[in-house]
Amino acid sequence: MRVLETHSSRAPHGREPGRPASGEMRRLLDRAVAASSNGIVITDPKLPDNPIIYVNPAFERISGYAVKEVMGLNCRFLQGDDRDQSALEELRVALGEEQESRVILKNYRKDGTPFWNELYVSPIHDEEGTLTNFVGVQNDITERRKIEEVLRESEERFRATFEHAAIGAAQVGIDGRWLRVNRRLGEIVGYEPEELLNTTFQDITHPDDLEGDIEQMRRLLTGELQTYTLEKRYLRRDGPVVWVNLTVSLVSDSAGEPAYFIAVVEDISERKKTEEERDLLLVREQLARAEAVDARRRLALLAAAGPTLSASLDYGETLESITRLLVPEMADWCLLDIVEDDGSLNQLAAAHADPEKEYLLMRLKEHRHFGERDPGSTAEVFRTGRPVLLPDLPDATFYERELGVGEHLDILLRLQPRSLICVPLLARGKTIGAVTLVSSKPDRRYGEEDLMLAEDLAYRCAQAAENSRLYRDHSEIARVLQTSLLPPHLPEIPGVEVGAEYLPVGEANVVGGDFYDLINTVEDGWVCAIGDVRGKGVEAAAVTALARYTIRAVTMKDDRPSEVLAALNEAMLRQLPEDRFCTAACIRLEPHDGSVGVGLDVARAGHPAPLLLRPGGPVEEVGCSGRVLGVFDNAELRDTSLRLMPGETLVLYTDGVTEARSPDGDFFGEDRLRRLLGSCSGYDAATLAARIKDVILDFQEGSPRDDLAVLVLRARDQVTPAVNGQRT
Ligand SMILES: Cc1cc2nc3c(=O)[nH]c(=O)nc-3n(C[C@H](O)[C@H](O)[C@H](O)COP(=O)(O)O)c2cc1C
Repeated sequence: MRVLETHSSRAPHGREPGRPASGEMRRLLDRAVAASSNGIVITDPKLPDNPIIYVNPAFERISGYAVKEVMGLNCRFLQGDDRDQSALEELRVALGEEQESRVILKNYRKDGTPFWNELYVSPIHDEEGTLTNFVGVQNDITERRKIEEVLRESEERFRATFEHAAIGAAQVGIDGRWLRVNRRLGEIVGYEPEELLNTTFQDITHPDDLEGDIEQMRRLLTGELQTYTLEKRYLRRDGPVVWVNLTVSLVSDSAGEPAYFIAVVEDISERKKTEEERDLLLVREQLARAEAVDARRRLALLAAAGPTLSASLDYGETLESITRLLVPEMADWCLLDIVEDDGSLNQLAAAHADPEKEYLLMRLKEHRHFGERDPGSTAEVFRTGRPVLLPDLPDATFYERELGVGEHLDILLRLQPRSLICVPLLARGKTIGAVTLVSSKPDRRYGEEDLMLAEDLAYRCAQAAENSRLYRDHSEIARVLQTSLLPPHLPEIPGVEVGAEYLPVGEANVVGGDFYDLINTVEDGWVCAIGDVRGKGVEAAAVTALARYTIRAVTMKDDRPSEVLAALNEAMLRQLPEDRFCTAACIRLEPHDGSVGVGLDVARAGHPAPLLLRPGGPVEEVGCSGRVLGVFDNAELRDTSLRLMPGETLVLYTDGVTEARSPDGDFFGEDRLRRLLGSCSGYDAATLAARIKDVILDFQEGSPRDDLAVLVLRARDQVTPAVNGQRT
C-alpha cells in the first residue's frame, strides 16, 4: 500500500520548480516514512472503528507487532487493560473534532512490556475538507520518562533533603542574594524563608566577618578554591548574634559560567558557647593558678624573711639584707630610710634588680627630702605613720613638669617608676623608718595584696632592724666597757718589753671574762696582773671591774702580789654573791733595783703558772699556786721571787690558751704551749704574744670557745736606767 497516495493524489496541480515529479516525490516520502525512527500509523475513519490501514517498520519495532497482525485493528489494542487513561479522553475529543492532538499514553508491546507512547495524531482532510484519514506518529519515550522520573525523584529527594535538613542550606546568587533557603536556615538566622529571599547574605553577616567571607567567595569565583569552610556570625533578625560553620561551593552552568553558590550553614552557637565557657574556665584556672603561684611566692618570701633577716646582727648588713629580700621578688628597686637619732630620715640602704642601676639610687638620695612640707610618699608615711599605695604613678610628663630639667628628672626617667608602695617600719610603737618598693615593669602593678604583704614584711624588717640596732648599741656599750677593763695601751716599763694579746670570744655585745693590767706603783715599781673571771657578760664585767680597780687601789698601798690578790679575795667575798670567783696571777716588777735583769715577785690564785722562757733552757713554771679568789677566806697565797735575766721571758696566760680545743676535741694543753714557747726563744714580747694567739686560733680552726689573754714580759738585753713610766 502506498500510504501517501491519498495526499499525492490531492497534491496541487503542476510542479514547483526544483521539486521532484510526483512519482519521484512519492517514492521519497515512502522512503522517509519507512526510514523514520518514529512509529507511523494511518487509520481510515471512514471505515468502522477507524482501523489501521498503514504502519511503518518503526511501529513494528516499537510495538513488537507485525504489519499483518495490526492491519484493520483500532489502535486501542495497544492499551491492553489500561483503558482508564485521562489522556484518552483528550484524544477522543480531538479525534471527534478532527483536531490535531498530542497525548502520552501507556501502551503495551506484544510481549506485554509497557512503554510510554508520545502520540501525535493529525486529521487528513481532502480538498472538500472531508476527513479522509488520521496519521499518528508514535514516539517511544519510555527511556526519556525513566530519566525524567529519576530526575524528578532526585529533585524530590533533593527538595526533601534541602527542606528538611537539620542544617541550614541555601542557594545564593553570585550577587549574594538568597535564591533558595531551607527552613532550618530560616530558623538559624531568625527569618521566615520567604523574608530571607528579599535579602542578601551580606545584609545579615556580622560586619567583622563580612570581608573574610567575601574574600573566600572571590577565590571560589576565580577557581582558586573548590569549596571553603569558615566560622562566622550572622545577625539574627531578633538581635543576637549566631555563630555558624559555613561551607560554600560554586555551581556553574552548562557553559561553565558561575551560576550560584551552594551554602551549608551549621549552627555552632552551642559549641561556641561551650568553647567560650571552656575558655573562661581556662582563664579562671590560669588566674587561680597565677594567684596560687603568687600566694606561694608570698609565702616563700615571708618564709625567707626570717632566716634572711636573722642571718646577721650587724645593723648595716641587716638593712642591706632587707632590701635584698625585697628586690627583685617584690620590687624592681627599693629604698630603706631610717630615722636617725636626731629625728631626721636618712636613706641607709637601697637595692636595684639591675646592679648597674644601683648607683642611680645613690644619686637619687641626694635629691630626696623628707621634711614636713616635702611632697613624696616617704615623707607622707613618715608624717602619718600610714602606708601609701600608688598603683599607677604619673608618667614622665608629670615629673618633667614637677622637677624641671636636671639630674633628679634624669634619674627618675632612667629608674622608670610605675607603681609604688611605701610602708612604715614600726617598732617600739613608733615609726623607725620606711621602706619604698617600686615597680618599673608595666605588668607588675601593686594592689592591696601586695600592700598587705609589704606591711607584713615591713613589720618583720622593722623588728630585725630594731634588733640589730639594739645589738649595735649593746655592742658599742660592751666595746666601751671591755676597753675600760683593759689598759688602753701598753705602758713603757724600763728594761722590760711588754706584749699583750686579748681575744674575747662570743657575740660582740658580750664582755669577756679575761683581763690583764699593768700598773705603775707609787714606789715606781710595776705590778702586772692577769685574771680570768668565771662567766661572761655583764656579771663577769662587774667582777672584772671589781678585780681591776681593787688591784689598782691596793697596789697604791701594798704592791706585794700575795697581798694584792688577798685583798682582791677579800673584796670579792665581801662584795659579790657566792658564785662569783676568779683566778689571777700577779707579778711585781722591780726593774731598777740596780742588779742585772728584773726582779720579780709572783703570786697566783688558782691561775695557770706563768712560764719562764730562758734562751737555750727549758720552759719553767713560776710561782706556787694559791686558791681561787672569791671562794675561801684564806686563799693561801704566797709570793715567789725570781730574777728575769736579759733575754729571758715570762709568759702569763689565761686558760683560754691551754684549754683551747681543736675541732676534734683535743686540748691545746701545757705541753704544746711549752713546745711552742721553746721554739720561740729570741722573739720580742709583742711578737711572742701575737704568735701564741695566732697558734691558738689556728689550733681551733677559727672557732674559739673561750676568751684568751696573753701577757708577755721580756727583760731587755741591757737594763736601762730607771725612768718614770707613764701612769696608766
Ligand atoms: C491515527 C491514530 C493512531 C492511534 N494510535 C494509537 C496508539 O498508538 N496507541 C493507542 O493507545 N491509541 C492510539 N489511537 C487511539 C485509539 O485508536 C482510539 O482512538 C482511542 O483509544 C480512543 O478511542 P476508544 O475510546 O474508542 O478506545 C490512535 C488513533 C488514531 C486515529
